[in-house]
Amino acid sequence: MAEDVQGQAAEASESSESTEATIAVHWREEGYYPPPPRFIGQANASDPAILDRFAEENFPECFREYADLLDWDEYWHTTLDTSNPPFWKWFAGGKLNASYNCVDRHLARDRNKAAMIWVPEPEDDADAVITYQELYRRVNEFAAVLRELGLQAGDRVTLHMPMVPELPVTMLACARLGVVHSQVFAGFSGAACGGRIADSGSKFLITMDAYYRSGDLLDHKVKADEAVEAARKEGQEVDKVLVWRRFPGQYSAKTPMVEGRDVFVDELLADHKGAVVEPVSMPAEAPLFLMYTSGTTGRPKGCQHSTGGYLSYVAGTSKFYQDIHPEDTYWCMADIGWITGHSYIVYGPLALGTTTVLYEGTPNYPDAGRPWRIAERLGVNIFHTSPTAIRMLRKVGPDEPAKYNYHFKAMTTVGEPIEPEVYRWYYNTVGKGEAIITDTWWQTETGGFIGTGLPGLFAMKPGSCGPAALGVYLQILDENGDPIPKGSGKAGNITARNPWPGIFQTIWGQPDRFVSTYFAKYNKDPDSKDWRDWPYFAGDGAVQAADGYFRILGRVDDVINVAGHRLGTKELESSALSVQEVAEAAAVPVIDDVRGRVVEMYVSLKPGYSASPEIEGKVKTAIETDIGKIARPKNIWIVPDMPKTRSGKIMRRVIAATSNFADVGDITTLANPEVVEKIRHQVQSAKHSRGEVPRELSETEEAEIMAFGSEG
Ligand code: WTA
Repeated sequence: MAEDVQGQAAEASESSESTEATIAVHWREEGYYPPPPRFIGQANASDPAILDRFAEENFPECFREYADLLDWDEYWHTTLDTSNPPFWKWFAGGKLNASYNCVDRHLARDRNKAAMIWVPEPEDDADAVITYQELYRRVNEFAAVLRELGLQAGDRVTLHMPMVPELPVTMLACARLGVVHSQVFAGFSGAACGGRIADSGSKFLITMDAYYRSGDLLDHKVKADEAVEAARKEGQEVDKVLVWRRFPGQYSAKTPMVEGRDVFVDELLADHKGAVVEPVSMPAEAPLFLMYTSGTTGRPKGCQHSTGGYLSYVAGTSKFYQDIHPEDTYWCMADIGWITGHSYIVYGPLALGTTTVLYEGTPNYPDAGRPWRIAERLGVNIFHTSPTAIRMLRKVGPDEPAKYNYHFKAMTTVGEPIEPEVYRWYYNTVGKGEAIITDTWWQTETGGFIGTGLPGLFAMKPGSCGPAALGVYLQILDENGDPIPKGSGKAGNITARNPWPGIFQTIWGQPDRFVSTYFAKYNKDPDSKDWRDWPYFAGDGAVQAADGYFRILGRVDDVINVAGHRLGTKELESSALSVQEVAEAAAVPVIDDVRGRVVEMYVSLKPGYSASPEIEGKVKTAIETDIGKIARPKNIWIVPDMPKTRSGKIMRRVIAATSNFADVGDITTLANPEVVEKIRHQVQSAKHSRGEVPRELSETEEAEIMAFGSEG
């Protein structure tokens, strides 16, 4: 057990050039928790021989083991085609259908087993239990609707749907036809959805009239009208808006339907009762879906995921890391609007033929015992959530789990670094000391987990995601591309030295950006056809302990991770700049004990305007309209001027430090150093009077703030 203090780290660099990669970190090494023997006895991966099978000398053929979990119409001829790096082709020559693999093939044995159990938010409403047979019927009927509307393999369709069973049904119906779905998180605004419609070139929007959130039945259809309008402004016409009804036959939105454009799905379905649609056999490298995520420029990135590689990877990782057996009841409390829900609510668990639970609402509605009541009632034995949800449930109901009689064998955490204290509550109180925890590090881009330990073979260590996932060779590099050895106590940029089947194929419509953002940094020879020359740059800072476990420190680019969701600073800033009075805007992260990070916005005004609550309100509204409530800044500070370098670049590090009560560092290189003290006084005295003074930052948090904005 490592109780010693790790790393005699070098001093944090004081220079304004310092980045995550040059800042050393030192923290107290946490103790290990071994997996319980009862877990190991039943685990899908308990024999260490699996590590040898996935060792580098067996790459890439080792991934046959994942692909063999699926049914293929045609077997592939090349496991990894590297002829056009870094546009990798996995299982080239193979053909399959994702909908067939998630639905049809389970009928022979499990026709009447629950594929999904949907829990509506109102607690008195009954669950919907959807068997594989019923899922088959619904997917086929809706695929028949889509086919009749003229949709074909390769077309893109945007979905803007809440957490209802109709969402996986829609995804699987698209997949059945080879239609590429692009689901946008329902909490995003209509404008954000419209931007994604335009970017993907979708002629169809599929949405729902309303859904429950924190006790209210929200009008969701209103966002469809905004989305269509926003897409039109970018030159994309939407021909049809298909509207599922939360209560079929009854319209729950106030927003009128648009004649000729909007149609109720339940009415279309009536003409296709009992329809059967042959699954279209798709090439392994055909795109299955797009998932948009934020980057450093304003334009979101449509991460394109493949059919064969992606589905193999999520099936394999669901089996070995989620430890899903067909008889398990598995509940991932994420939203299908994010990559976690695609991979680990829909595609992974259904490919394995298990029972996956979907919950419509907020975790603490009507009270903090809700998740544990659901777990008890349904007999959930695998539970998956994010640090933000864990922190929140710990804060509002620290003793609730003990009141309910549920027993998890396995739990997952994903999306942000988890503090060891919070981890221990998850382990002891939620898991009752009986369940293993897999801390899974990955990204929208990676399709599935790439940093995490096999739960039956590796002890858990709070705050670390563990070693690299099977068949992925992670390495930390410094700014020059030199490896940082494990146990050195130094942080750097985490990279994957090799491709894996789940990696995204490209950014939709922006192949150059795909190469420049993720590969250019460490590629030494753009003509090389050898995968070894193309390390994947993830954009996260990390440090590797002597035991080989990775600890993820956070983003090194201008992305703010709010409650596990990535928001681009440029997106936030361009939204603020759309307010007429605003001259300059800068978004910075503020450490938050529940949501991990929250956004604070600094704006300066054009000459002739003075600060007012109205302008603050306008900025807030602009951000909610352009992005969604999730991005709403905690504070908007209207400042006399932004701290700037002599070349005019806003020093985000300085204002980030101010908002977090951290040391602003060296400001002698600023063009206007005098403004720093003014801003500090304005912001910090307001925070004092609002009771918003944060606890002291840890060293890694301080390092993150120091590094913020250094890339931009
Ligand atoms: C962060 C979510 C620490 C990281 C699946 C990454 C994590 C970003 C972890 C991706 C983890 C994700 N520990 N940090 N276990 N998992 N992250 O694309 O900064 O929404 O780059 O994918 O979340 O967020 P995304």
